[in-house]
Amino acid sequence: MFYSLAKSVLFNLDAERSHDFALGSLKRLAHTPAALLWRQTLVQKPKIIAGIQFPNPVGLAAGLDKNADCIDAFAQMGFGFLEVGTVTPRPQAGNDKPRMFRLPQGEAIINRMGFNNKGVDYLVNNVQKSRYQGVLGINIGKNKDTPNEQGKDDYIHCMRKVYAYANYITVNISSPNTPGLRDLQFGAALLDLLQAVKNEQLDLEAQHHKYVPIFVKIAPDMDQIAVEQVADTLLRSKMDGAIATNTTLDRSHVMGQRYAEEAGGLSGVPVQQKSTQIITQLRQAVGATFPIIGVGGINSEQAAQDKLAAGADLVQLYTGFIYHGPQLIKTIVNSL
Ligand SMILES: Cc1cc2nc3c(=O)[nH]c(=O)nc-3n(C[C@H](O)[C@H](O)[C@H](O)COP(=O)(O)O)c2cc1C
Repeated sequence: MFYSLAKSVLFNLDAERSHDFALGSLKRLAHTPAALLWRQTLVQKPKIIAGIQFPNPVGLAAGLDKNADCIDAFAQMGFGFLEVGTVTPRPQAGNDKPRMFRLPQGEAIINRMGFNNKGVDYLVNNVQKSRYQGVLGINIGKNKDTPNEQGKDDYIHCMRKVYAYANYITVNISSPNTPGLRDLQFGAALLDLLQAVKNEQLDLEAQHHKYVPIFVKIAPDMDQIAVEQVADTLLRSKMDGAIATNTTLDRSHVMGQRYAEEAGGLSGVPVQQKSTQIITQLRQAVGATFPIIGVGGINSEQAAQDKLAAGADLVQLYTGFIYHGPQLIKTIVNSL
């Protein structure tokens, strides 16, 4: 009820304005009686993955709360874990506006935000200020103006800054909106990056006396051979898990719809099957025990079950949450 009212207001605004308005309100109101509008206490469905105890397997996907401004409010909605970011070492403005478009017919979004964020120091400050005690993933990336050859310095810079505050760290190499970023997903570039990340993780473990697992977030736009190669590199470099998938460049499911031709990554229902297929292929390639978080077009309990059946251990929501609100978290958690 609350969300259908909120949505009728929000969906009348341009997509990014409504996003900013919603986040601004959540931030301001999280610790006031207004939070009763979205607060939900969900049944516990605990799961231990990568050594982390998750109270339930439904998380918030990266990109919605890029700067960790609203952790407390999202926690109040009952998510089992929150992933904030993508954050980069230095603040950056991202691409020119407009850069986010709703395709309501397909319950989809196209975005080319380009890692707009206030920088890792701002994010860490927000995490320190929050009251959240639950599972927090921090998703890291590289600045647009950092050449790929120096990309790993950006990831390592962010790892050092966030290590003390994260339950897991996500290395994002799959955004389609930072030119050249997806090249880091393949061959020697991937192995080189992930080995550097692994070495840094082990140094930080010794320094902080705690082991923070590293997950790698991959794109859906890959054939089976590419998935197998990525899987092999994840295992060789001893990564702790994968997040599949990011948004797609494929427009075949939205052809003819308004905004379908806009550049950027497509999310929501049109990426649902593709991301499930990648999870199936990845699970086959990495074996039964390697942790996988499934994300892409989850908009119902069935869609969440499909991801789990394909081999995901946990799921995350972004676009489905925009279209269905906090009730979707509850529906999925109750169905598990
Ligand atoms: C507007 C928008 C911004 C996003 N920003 C990020 C980001 O900064 N980092 C990231 O790893 N994924 C980002 N994503 C991708 C989502 O986390 C998710 O992987 C993808 O949208 C597929 O899930 P969905 O269909 O449930 O949205 C973004 C998605 C959207 C729609």
